[in-house]
Amino acid sequence: MARHLITSAIPYINGIKHLGNLVGSQLPADVFARYQRGRGNEVLFLCATDEHGTPAELAAAKAGKPVADYCAEMHDIQAGIAEGFRLSFDHFGRSSSAQNHALTQQFAGVLADQGLIREVSETQMYSPTDGRYLPDRYIEGTCPNCGFDSARGDQCDNCTKQLDPVDLINPHSTVSGATDLEVRETKHLHLRQSEMKAELEAWIDSKHDWPILTTSIAKKWLNDGDGLQDRGITRDLDWGIPVRKGEEPWPGMEGKVFYVWFDAPIEYIACAQEWVDAGKGDDWARWWRTDKGAEDVTYTQFMGKDNVPFHTLSFPATILGSKEPWKLVDYIKSFNYLNYEGGQFSTSRGRGVFMDQALSILPSDYWRWWLLSHAPESSDSEFTWENFQASVNKDLADVLGNFVSRVTKFCRSKFGEAIPEGGSYGPEEEALIADISARLQRYTANMDAIEIRKSAQELRGIWAAGNEYLQSAAPWAAYKEDPDRAAAIIRLSLNLIALYAKISEPFIPDACATLRDALGQTGDQPWPDDAGAALSALAPGASFTVPENLFRKITDEERDSWQTQFSGKRD
Ligand code: MF3
Ligand code: ZN
Repeated sequence: MARHLITSAIPYINGIKHLGNLVGSQLPADVFARYQRGRGNEVLFLCATDEHGTPAELAAAKAGKPVADYCAEMHDIQAGIAEGFRLSFDHFGRSSSAQNHALTQQFAGVLADQGLIREVSETQMYSPTDGRYLPDRYIEGTCPNCGFDSARGDQCDNCTKQLDPVDLINPHSTVSGATDLEVRETKHLHLRQSEMKAELEAWIDSKHDWPILTTSIAKKWLNDGDGLQDRGITRDLDWGIPVRKGEEPWPGMEGKVFYVWFDAPIEYIACAQEWVDAGKGDDWARWWRTDKGAEDVTYTQFMGKDNVPFHTLSFPATILGSKEPWKLVDYIKSFNYLNYEGGQFSTSRGRGVFMDQALSILPSDYWRWWLLSHAPESSDSEFTWENFQASVNKDLADVLGNFVSRVTKFCRSKFGEAIPEGGSYGPEEEALIADISARLQRYTANMDAIEIRKSAQELRGIWAAGNEYLQSAAPWAAYKEDPDRAAAIIRLSLNLIALYAKISEPFIPDACATLRDALGQTGDQPWPDDAGAALSALAPGASFTVPENLFRKITDEERDSWQTQFSGKRD
């Protein structure tokens, strides 16, 4: 049994994420986790909320709440929505956990012992109007790299360049709008990533099978300009993990906290500790320490492309720099952006569909199917209501839903609600089994390679093959002359439904649960490694029930009204 550690980039705590965020990390990670479990492998799938840094402070201030309360509330809200989308995390942790505090401080201490941290006197933007330093998102201005006019202090959303607030052109405070900013001196800790350039480069060069999107971004940051830069890992904020050297105080760093991008990836590890402390598991080190059993773990990370520099360079610098036997990532799956109706999803402008809104209008399977079958893998992709309506109505309602409904209803009316016994499989059935077998092989190969869109396409093909078979075998016609022949066709079709319920589960888990229930299946079903065996697995005579309509169609009126509803500002 293979062991898979799977993490999704941890979403910022501030606010509810839109569908573009969902399809860029959590959702494909969930598909992979469900697939690996479905294959019978052991999986630890972790995610959490990213609670520190300026976004959290700013959002809490806007909500008029103490930041700790705000984060606790938003964590529960995000956890509820994740459940609504059936994201099957083994644990959904919090980067503000006691476990992450201790582990982050421990890493900083170890890195200091390795000589990889230096204290630097830094110039920082100070706002007399606000009476505070303005790190990261407390400051915006024009990007010195691409000219984008609302680049944040820490990163430009347009060109993804990591920035230093003092580099911004025409900077202003996002708290007060003040432009009378002063540059002041203060001391900060820097991680000496530049020392590790050769090691990081060799490690990335050894990953021949990584997506080009991942390696090209990593190489760009390794070699652009002066090459890999040292990075500030502390900030002048109240909210965050206090700077300590392990358990010791860090002289000169009083009142400072670690930079959110230093502690957030460490939460991937701390989350496994939270999972154990919550009583859900008994050994986190078996997943994370190569001296304690993690050497045979395959670790896969999922994220949007803006997160790639932190996962290919910064976090590995922390791990490798510690010289301790932590598990390093084996595969980084990254995604482009999902656009919305000819523009971008925008959290600040409330443009597009947000996760809670999506669930309020349709069940999660509808969204999962569209998003995954249009995942922005090789390039950006675009959500349009028209395309969403067409995919749902065709793939889910006309192809899969219709097949299930025709087969089960026909069986009920002619043979009753039990797997029919008569007849045997002939040449048409053998041909279908061979076809399904070939398609299944392509499906699993794509799923193993985490090619989400291609996998969805193969799955759709497997559903369609069932429909075509049913259409040409025509049990309703056969029944008149030869009821046994019709019984064999329906028996195979019911077996196909069972196979669909198993292999479609990573994409549309609720519909698959409905199908399993209808077929009276309890417990884990085996993966159909042998299509022939799988398609005669249901015992003749065993009873089933006709399931509720699996999917309904989206009407033109609904499409138009949703299009209008979501074009404007979210309240
Ligand atoms: N919160 C970040 C984002 O949404 C992702 C953090 S991923 C981690 O872009 F590695 F830092 F955990
Ligand atoms: Zn830029």
